[in-house]
Amino acid sequence: MNFTNLLELEDLARQKLDPAAFDYIAGGADDEQTLQENRAAFGRWRLRPRYLVDVSSVDLSTTILGQPINFPVLVAPSAYHKLAHPDGELATARACAATGTIMIASTASTYPIGEIAAQGAPTWFQLYTYKERAITEMLLAKAVAAGATALCLTIDVPHIGNRERDTRNRFTLPSGIVMANLVDADLAKMPRNPDGSGLAAYSMLWDPALTWEVIPWLKSRCHLPIVVKGIMTGEDAKLAVEHGAAAIVVSNHGGRQLDSVAATLDVLPEIVDAVGGRIEVLLDGGVRRGTDVLKALALGARAVLLGRSVLWGLAIGGAEGATAVLTTLRDELLTDMMLVGRTKIADVDRSLVTKAPV
Ligand code: GLV
Repeated sequence: MNFTNLLELEDLARQKLDPAAFDYIAGGADDEQTLQENRAAFGRWRLRPRYLVDVSSVDLSTTILGQPINFPVLVAPSAYHKLAHPDGELATARACAATGTIMIASTASTYPIGEIAAQGAPTWFQLYTYKERAITEMLLAKAVAAGATALCLTIDVPHIGNRERDTRNRFTLPSGIVMANLVDADLAKMPRNPDGSGLAAYSMLWDPALTWEVIPWLKSRCHLPIVVKGIMTGEDAKLAVEHGAAAIVVSNHGGRQLDSVAATLDVLPEIVDAVGGRIEVLLDGGVRRGTDVLKALALGARAVLLGRSVLWGLAIGGAEGATAVLTTLRDELLTDMMLVGRTKIADVDRSLVTKAPV
């Protein structure tokens, strides 16, 4: 693959993709401040390497909810992978299987969850909760039948964010690309509204009345552990623990929902403190470098999720491209572990980082 690092991917993918599809994936809400902040926050920390440590053997493996993975990077849930490549989520799942990590498949995937999980990677199902609970129950049944090992409940979309690139482009799903898990419910297509409100109109099917009670409701219907994604405060982290979440993802939806919220890395310490080790804490948003992974882990994340970069990899080279993205980040992390004098993931602790001078 013709890239050296993940920061190069967006420009390479732009050359391959339809401009509206590119913008849908790349874009954020409003002024895209949070989108930029996620990335900038990693620059506000410095590493504190230790030397004369035997780093001749470094082990990047860890576990998430008891599931062993080869390195602490999961594939974030994201919608419509066929926008990036015709093999869509099947290719992404193959990349996860090839590299030994977890694929989080979106409710809005363009292949069915069963086919995605059959590619051999441990698979979680990301859930959008429809107003019509019977549709949510249908999705739960499909996730269980597919052998998904966790549900990832997205909580930060009581309304779709104001994504002005999509409005300008009148973004909707191209014909031939559908939400494959929703075909049975006749909800697989996004409206093609002349004013460009297709995504917003579709998202109205999702339930804006959800409260924390959704977690016990889901637990009463589905035995899978629930990972709550979209936590941005210590208060909500505590509520997630109290309502029975198995893990949380510190996430601002890649800056696509509420603009002007903090970078995920900036709120991670508050959230880790609030959780107090009771459940696992993951983080997404702006991760592009092995050193970013180290900083997130040092501040208390058990692993990170990679979203856009994987889609760019798909756009550039299908399953092979997505695999190359994951292995590039993994190899950087391996180098960085040696350079900071840590031989296993459990050794990455708070002493590894210090705030950058202002
Ligand atoms: C869907 O979850 C999106 O962020 O577009």
